[in-house]
Amino acid sequence: MLNIALPKGRLGEQVYEAFERAGFPCPEIREDSRKLIFTNSEAEVSYFWVKPSDVAIYVERGAADVGVAGKDILLEYEPQVYELLDLGVGKCRMAVAAPEGWRDSKQYRLRVATKFTRIARQYYHSVGRDIDVIHLNGSIELAPILGLSDVIVDIVETGTTLKENRLAVVDTIVPISARLIANRANFKFKTASIERLVRELSKETERAT
Ligand code: PRP
Repeated sequence: MLNIALPKGRLGEQVYEAFERAGFPCPEIREDSRKLIFTNSEAEVSYFWVKPSDVAIYVERGAADVGVAGKDILLEYEPQVYELLDLGVGKCRMAVAAPEGWRDSKQYRLRVATKFTRIARQYYHSVGRDIDVIHLNGSIELAPILGLSDVIVDIVETGTTLKENRLAVVDTIVPISARLIANRANFKFKTASIERLVRELSKETERAT
């Protein structure tokens, strides 16, 4: 049995469909219910719906053999897992954004509001800029508008949220997409089935791109 943690939500549903096409179906998952675990003994798979930011924890600790997590989460938390495949979905980018027309002045310590403090610190370290990191849990776009920070480091997908708050991208830090990850110990015990999953899923993602 392969235990698979999927990110709850639209991305997870899209990802499940790829798993299904790849030969790991569990039709019950499509039924409208509040259930969180779905098993198909015949296909030897069990799926769990997990909060997207928690997938890496389930996989790192072996409660799930494999899972699907955003590259943003992998960069921010650096879980000790194998990253096996770029699924080519959930594409967005990690970016620095600021109020429209904002001009940087290297004279002062830049105040950066973000959920992604490690990514922000690493990025500004790489460009040799001293920053003051302000950790927030959501609605990051508010911070520069209210003068809490100069810029934000956040995920930009369509750009709508920035636009509607009169912010603009200043720099792109890294492109993001969903990745298939595996628990390191469980990978040793279930190598054959995980490798089959990777093989079939990569055919699927190639077909889709
Ligand atoms: C993310 C991010 C932005 C938004 C960007 O938030 O923090 O607010 O998506 O998307 P856009 O460029 O398509 O407008 P998300 O909806 O994931 O929720 P969160 O605020 O809980 O992070």
